[in-house]
Formats: sequence, C-alpha cells, structure tokens
Amino acid sequence: MSVITESGLRAQFPAADKLLYLDSAHQTPLSTLVRAGLDAFYDEALYTAGPKRGWLARVEEVRAQLAGFLGVDPHEIAFTKNTSEGLNIAAHGVHWEPGDNVLLLEGEHPNNAYAWLNQRADGLEVRLVPEDKKWADADTFAPHIDERTRAIAISHVMFHSGQRNDVAAITALARRHGIEVIVDAMQSVGVLDVDARALDISALASGCHKGLLVPQGLGFLYTPRNAEQLPPTYVAAAGVANTRADLVAGPEPVELRPDAHRFEIGNFNLPAIHALGASLSLIESVTTARIEEHVLALGDQLSAHLDDLGIALVGPTEREHRSHICVLDLTGPDWPDFFTAENVRLSPVRDGIRVSFGLYNTADDVDRFASILRRGLKQHAPHAA
Ligand SMILES: Cc1ncc(COP(=O)(O)O)c(C=O)c1O
Repeated sequence: MSVITESGLRAQFPAADKLLYLDSAHQTPLSTLVRAGLDAFYDEALYTAGPKRGWLARVEEVRAQLAGFLGVDPHEIAFTKNTSEGLNIAAHGVHWEPGDNVLLLEGEHPNNAYAWLNQRADGLEVRLVPEDKKWADADTFAPHIDERTRAIAISHVMFHSGQRNDVAAITALARRHGIEVIVDAMQSVGVLDVDARALDISALASGCHKGLLVPQGLGFLYTPRNAEQLPPTYVAAAGVANTRADLVAGPEPVELRPDAHRFEIGNFNLPAIHALGASLSLIESVTTARIEEHVLALGDQLSAHLDDLGIALVGPTEREHRSHICVLDLTGPDWPDFFTAENVRLSPVRDGIRVSFGLYNTADDVDRFASILRRGLKQHAPHAA
C-alpha cells in the first residue's frame, strides 16, 4: 500500500467516493481542505466586509509559497487567470521579426498553439513539428531549427496522450541556438516533481485547477531572470513602479516593475488564491515526489490490466516518458456513454479514452476500473470502432 493510500487522503475528496473519478487531467475534485481555504475567505468577506490589505498580504504569502514549491523566487511569479493568459503574455513578449519562426509540436494543446498561430498575420512562421517516438526531446526539434527560429513552445505533459516531453534536453538544445523555450505546465504542476528553475526555460505557464487542486480561474506565469526583457502587452497599476500615491496617472513615462508583477492586471482572484494556499499546504505535506510515484504506480497497475484485456496504450509505455495520464486505444462510439452509465468520470480524447490519476486515487479504483472495462469489452467486442 502506498504512503498516499495509507495517509487517509482519500477522505478529503468526497467526490472520489461518489463516483470512480479518473479525470484529473480535466479537473480535480475539490478537497475539504481547499474548501476550508475558500470558506475562510468568504467568512472574512461576510463578517468583516473585506480586509483588503490583509487579503493582499495573503496574496504575497501564497506567491512566496508557490515560488518555494516551484523552487523559484517570488518575484518571478505573476498570478494570471489561467494557462492561456500566461502563454499569451510569454508568446507576445518574445521578440521576433517578420519571417522568423517558432516551433510547436503537431497536436499541441490549442491554448498553447493559438498564442502563436494568431501572430502569423504579422509575419511569424509557425512550424508544426511531427513526432514519431511518442515523446519529444532535442532530436525531435533539432532538424527544424534554423537561424530564424526564435522560440520553442511545448507542453511538459501532453493532454491528449500523457507523454512527458524532455523539456530539459529541449532547453539545452535551444540555449545553444539562443532560442526561447516557453512551457505549458498545466498537466504537470502538482502531479510531477517539477523543479522550474532546473528546467532553465524562458517562461512557464499553468492554471491551478488540475494538479494544484483549485477551482478554475487562477493561473500563474513563471518568468525567470528575463522579466525585464519581456514587454507586457497589457499594463495596469499593479505592474507599474511609478504609480503615484494619489492614483492619478500622469504624463510621465511609465516605469514598469522589473519583475513578474508587471504582468498582473488589476485585482486578483482572491478566493482562488486563498484556495491555492490551502492546496499547496496539502500537496507539500505529501510531496510531489510521492504524488508522482503514486500516479505512475497506478499507471503500472492499469497497464498490467490492459495487457490482460488486450487494450493498448496510445501514448508511451516507458515510465520515464509517462505521466498520470493513460490514453486507452478504445475508439468505439459507445464507450463514453458506457463509462457514464457505470458512474466513471474520464475523458474521451482524440485518440481514445483518457484515464488520469490524482493523489486521491487508489489501487482499488484501478481494479474496479479494470472490471468495468472487462464488462465493457464483453458488451462492445470488438473494442475498436
Ligand atoms: C496542456 C494544457 N494547457 C492548457 C489547458 C487549459 O488552459 P487554460 O488554463 O487556459 O484553460 C489544458 C487543459 O485544460 C491543458 O491540458
């Protein structure tokens, strides 16, 4: 039995007992601890009419907590609305001239791809790089780089296959060519042991509603060392260093804050930031090293069942290239309704049925899912479309 299963964590996620919840890559169910973080905020709003100064101090505490969690400096973190906002900030901050190019994997998440595709009208070439190994590394990108390549934008873990791309190797290659690397970490933060500084990237964006266990509407952008070089597309008072005390925006030149605060626009999503404080405490009490080991072990267990059942994995099978996401090669049109009828929450994706684990899942969940699959195969055989 794993450390996580023994810890009684499951009881903190009541939804995971009401249904077979295998959809953390979509969103995670709320935990009682995160709910308590939200309640603390709402109680203050209800009974004290909003201690804004205290709440803003709390924002800085949570920023520092998140920075510590990622192994970076609080000044390198901007709170955003979601992953897309962070990716767009980074994508619009990279300097390029018409005719320059950016590399993306074919099949990237649309929220990552559109941040770049939308800039083609101004002369940016977007090169969609095919991959044949079921994961991407330096060899995947090397043949597509030339002297006009300005950036590589890549998901750490791909949402449609679960593959874990070798970001460190891709960055090492990019650095040799002076190319920026922008990472979409939506699927990996809080689940895999991400050391953002060690990845040596130009920017990393994520939302908080998957591995970080917070309801939708909060994200962050990590911009190491080069925040000063990334000009923000939008600017509000929080990002300006010379905002006047009387809050009159005068004709003097706007001095941007030198750090990631320059990317923050207006008021914060205060309830979600309170929730993030609670969820980070929960995740840190377990550690991402253990969460990663836990979800990979559940994947091993599922793979063994799939071998018995004759169902292939769409993504990689090797542990080092896998994540908490396993996509089953089940493409028949009846499968989604079958799983819904069986009270299983998962996601049909482009190449099959996506099962994704969280820290609340147990070995028993996997065995139950395998029995449901076996029943489904009897009803749906042959299982291919
Ligand atoms: C890789 C990836 N990026 C981004 C998103 C979502 O983007 P946003 O946080 O902007 O909604 C998802 C899934 O929701 C995802 O899987």
